[in-house]
Amino acid sequence: MDKWVFLNREFVRSEDAHLSIYDHGFLYGDGAFEGIRAYNGRAFKLKDHVDRLYNSLLALDIKMPFDQAEFIKTVEKLLEMNEVTDAYIRVSVSRGVSLGLDPKNIKGQATIVISTDKLSLYPQSMYENGLEVVTVATRIANPQVLEPRIKSLGKYVCNIQAKLEANHVGAGEGLMLTEDGHVAECTGDNVFFVKDSVVNTPAAHLGILEGITRATAIEVLKEMGIEVNIGVFTRFDLYTADEAFLTGTAAEVIPMVKLDARIIADGKPGPITKKLMKAFHEYVAKQS
Ligand SMILES: Cc1ncc(COP(=O)(O)O)c(C=O)c1O
Repeated sequence: MDKWVFLNREFVRSEDAHLSIYDHGFLYGDGAFEGIRAYNGRAFKLKDHVDRLYNSLLALDIKMPFDQAEFIKTVEKLLEMNEVTDAYIRVSVSRGVSLGLDPKNIKGQATIVISTDKLSLYPQSMYENGLEVVTVATRIANPQVLEPRIKSLGKYVCNIQAKLEANHVGAGEGLMLTEDGHVAECTGDNVFFVKDSVVNTPAAHLGILEGITRATAIEVLKEMGIEVNIGVFTRFDLYTADEAFLTGTAAEVIPMVKLDARIIADGKPGPITKKLMKAFHEYVAKQS
C-alpha cells in the first residue's frame, strides 16, 4: 500500500516527497512543528495542536497559505488516505526556501510537511515498571531569549543535547532545569509529582512547553477529584515525592520511579499515577 504525505499544497507518495536543500527549516531551524497522536483513526486534541501551531507561526511571522479549518481537513484526509488508526502525526512548517537568513529573500510560500507514522517511544514494560530519569547539564532555554510558547524547530537542538546526555548514561529521559535550577521539564515531556495526595507540576512561566497532554492530565485529575498544584519546585521535591510521572503526546502518561539514582518512594508506579494512566486511556477512547 502507498504511504502518502502532505507536502506544501498536495498529497504525494512518501518516496516522491523532496525538500529543497535551501529550506529555512533545514538551514536555520526556522519554523515550527507539532506532534499529534491519532487514536481509532481520529487525531486527539487536533484543534489544540492546530491552535498551538498557528500561534507559533503567527509569532514567527510565517504565513500559512490556508486557514485552520482547511488544515484540519488536510490532516484528517491524510489519516484516511494512509488508512491508519493509531498513528503519530508530525506536522512541520518552515518559512520557505532561500539561501541566507534574511526572510525578505524568501519568495515562495512556507514549506509544509505532514506525515503519519507508527511511534512507540517506550516498551510496555516501562509503562508497567516506570522510567529512570537523570538530571542533565543542558538547561532549558531562557524564556526571555526563546519564547517557550513557540514550538520552534530550532529550539529542539537543546532538547536533543539533553537527550544525548540521558542516553549516555542509559536513562529513559533527561530532566532539564531552568537557568536558576528549578525543575522545568524533560526533553519531550512535562513532569509531575505527587506529595501528600496533591499532584504538582511546574508552572508555565518557568519556560516549559505547555503540553497538551499536561493540560489533559490536569483536566482528568481534577475530574477524579484530585487536587493539582502548579508551582515552582526543585529536585528535592522530586527526590522526596510519593510518586512521579511524565506526560507527552508521544509518551502519553508514563511513571517515573528513579531520578539521579534516588528511588522515588518505593520505586514502583504510584496509585495516583496508575489511576491517571487508566483514566487517560478512557478519556482518549471517549474522544475518538
Ligand atoms: C519539551 C517538551 N515538553 C513537553 C512536551 C509535551 O507536550 P505535548 O503534551 O503537547 O506533546 C513536549 C512534546 O513535544 C516537549 O517537546
